[in-house]
Amino acid sequence: RTLAMVFEKHSTRTRVSFEAGMNQLGGSVITLMTRDTQLGRGEPIEDVARVITPMVDIVMIRTFEHEIIERFARHSRVPVINGLTDEYHPCQILGDIFTFVEHRGSIRGKTVAWIGDSNNVCHTWMQAAKIFDFNFHVASPAGYELEPERGESYESAHLEVFNDPMEAARGADLVTTDVWTSMGFEDEKEERKQNFADFRVDSEMMSLAGKDALFMHCLPAHRGEEVDAE
Ligand code: NVA
Repeated sequence: RTLAMVFEKHSTRTRVSFEAGMNQLGGSVITLMTRDTQLGRGEPIEDVARVITPMVDIVMIRTFEHEIIERFARHSRVPVINGLTDEYHPCQILGDIFTFVEHRGSIRGKTVAWIGDSNNVCHTWMQAAKIFDFNFHVASPAGYELEPERGESYESAHLEVFNDPMEAARGADLVTTDVWTSMGFEDEKEERKQNFADFRVDSEMMSLAGKDALFMHCLPAHRGEEVDAE
């Protein structure tokens, strides 16, 4: 079978894992980068879907607005995997939960603390909390908090929002974070550096977490920013 991967944003882990996985399973992969294809010249996503999908068996897309992947999927003849949008990053959270289970067993009833931006990775953790039945603590700087509507739609019973990142991490089974500036938000980088300064995961924060707490980061990590090198 053939997988087409469409990257409108950078990728390292997603690209390598999908490509290696397909090769190991006996399939093949076509990788399309926006800049080298007609997408980069403004071809509508609907046309791209109509043209690509009769020739392949499955598609993975990494893009900007979530709506772009929805539009592609509406015109696709084959299943479409979300390889990250501005709103969600489901493959990452499946990978993280798989890893948690490998190291610590079931995640059910456990507490995951998210420290930092309420971004695509955070939103997906929140969806997963409901599906896998674990508690999700979120601490984000003022101005970067989770929109209240999201908490409501993703089952507030699993969600607790904190102002103080140390309190969010207290007793957690997993502490996790992400870059202060996600792809697509580069113009805000300097402002974010200042606003996120108190939201760094370090040994002091990890000492407040549970005794066997794990730390995870979807990577790439910026040591000295969202996570201390130690
Ligand atoms: N929140 C990050 C995740 C990178 C894997 C981003 O969207 O850039």
